Amino acid sequence: MSQSFDVIVIGGGPGGYIAAIRAAQLGFKTACIDEWKNAAGGPAPGGTCTNVGCIPSKALLQSSEHYEQAAHHFADHGIGLKDLSIDVPKMLARKDQVVKQNNDGILYLLKKNKISFFHGRGSFVRAVEGGYEIAVGAETLTGRQVVVATGSSARALPGTPFDEQQILSNDGALRVGAVPKKLGLIGAGVIGLEMGSVWRRLGAEVTVLEGLPTFLGAVDEQIAKEAHKAFTKQGLKIELGVKVGEIKTGKKGVNIAWTNAKGEAQELVVDKLIISIGRVPNTTGLNVEAVGLKLDERGAIVVDAECRTNLPGVWAVGDVVRGPMLAHKAEEEGVAVAERMAGQHGHVNFNTIPWVIYTSPEIAWVGETEQQLKARGAQYKAGTFPFLANGRARALGDTTGMVKFLADAVTDEILGVHIVGPMASELIAEAVVAMEFRASSEDIARICHAHPSLSEATKEAALAVDKRTLNF
Ligand code: FAD
Ligand code: NAI
Repeated sequence: MSQSFDVIVIGGGPGGYIAAIRAAQLGFKTACIDEWKNAAGGPAPGGTCTNVGCIPSKALLQSSEHYEQAAHHFADHGIGLKDLSIDVPKMLARKDQVVKQNNDGILYLLKKNKISFFHGRGSFVRAVEGGYEIAVGAETLTGRQVVVATGSSARALPGTPFDEQQILSNDGALRVGAVPKKLGLIGAGVIGLEMGSVWRRLGAEVTVLEGLPTFLGAVDEQIAKEAHKAFTKQGLKIELGVKVGEIKTGKKGVNIAWTNAKGEAQELVVDKLIISIGRVPNTTGLNVEAVGLKLDERGAIVVDAECRTNLPGVWAVGDVVRGPMLAHKAEEEGVAVAERMAGQHGHVNFNTIPWVIYTSPEIAWVGETEQQLKARGAQYKAGTFPFLANGRARALGDTTGMVKFLADAVTDEILGVHIVGPMASELIAEAVVAMEFRASSEDIARICHAHPSLSEATKEAALAVDKRTLNF
């Protein structure tokens, strides 16, 4: 006999497992289905984020940052090192252990919340009276409501499939067993910059080929310019406005034919090539045709502003729907959907979703960029403060970058905050809180910030909006 649930969540990434936990907290009998397998074939919930995304990439960014500090910056502190080396297999094993801790933590959370977990692929069978039948392995479950949170996968270049040996997706990029002498990346987006940084710090010669003529087009221009300067100084070769041609693999490596922004033919030969040109929603295998679930031309599930699909009682969240492909966006949607199912007013504020790029310097922002404000003809004031003038940054030995505030010229409401520099990922949280409470730049400027701290740069940038910085 098929098991019945109030809510069945398909996908156990940050969108799915968080939706399941919130649904269970609200009293729904909940199931969560996820197909990800660990190396032994067992369940590995947490999705892209935990297995081949946020968590392992940050583990490698941390390891490689330690190496870079030891190789190039310890000497400034009077610390000498002999025979510095990097054991890549050990670094990867540590990363795998961090991933496993997260997988195990999610399995524990599902159990703690009395969520029935099914390991396998979930697919629609048919609509039935008051719900849907979902097949997983040999079982058929019935759910009154269904949340689809099946995430996304790396987009391949047409004609160049991932072999994960020489042509790598984000998955293979996190499993390179030895530092490549030469590494190529196609796409100077978030993955390109983060993974390019990891392998450059460990000694690879890294070239990034980007199709667009601008660097990090979605980032505030002033911030992107500062970041570009820093990355170039570190030795990352970034070619903009390129057109990638034929890619050939062979014993000697990967050969990439490309034309530069001037239209001149070029050739790049590398040991490994990472292709990071965006991601595609995962809907194959869901058997959407059986129930008539509507997809758009990109294969994403069509949802309204509240994550409702075209089918009653079927919701979709995270990377498989429109909007930024970010773990915290997926989580927020998961919580909001569970609350809506319970008749509550779940809410996701798309204007205050922060972005972070975990390079060094880190890049983080929330709200509108200066170019967006100009494009919509907004009247605004800008204030910036450089980390060079911040005592804590000097003590850390990391003074690259700045904090930038953009505020409404009349009301002073904060419209955007943009940071490039040390710990931008943590500093941005204050800006998110401020914007969520619709604070003015003066509100931040009047708040006491601990000294010496990097957060003083945030306060000073807020003061800079009214041209009254105290330390610059
Ligand atoms: P996913 O995490 O993709 O999870 C979907 C799950 O559903 C997977 O386990 C999949 O196997 C499973 N599934 C799919 N179809 C089925 C099916 N039919 N039946 C059963 N299970 C199924 N975001 C950030 O916010 N911060 C970061 O630092 C960050 N770093 C990243 C680094 C990399 C290298 C990559 C690739 C991504 C990164 N992201 C980051 C993006 C983030 O990983 C995604 O936005 C997030 O994982 C989306 O969550 P999700 O739950 O929608 O989907
Ligand atoms: P992306 O969208 O960030 O960047 C892709 C880049 O590739 C763009 O700059 C694009 O112009 C370029 N491009 C596309 N086609 C090209 C072509 N044919 N030739 C040359 N360049 C081309 O996508 P990416 O880096 O693959 O990451 C996918 C998503 O994963 C991100 O958008 C983000 O949502 C998420 N992510 C988030 C992270 C974070 O929050 N720190 C870290 C890594 C990924």
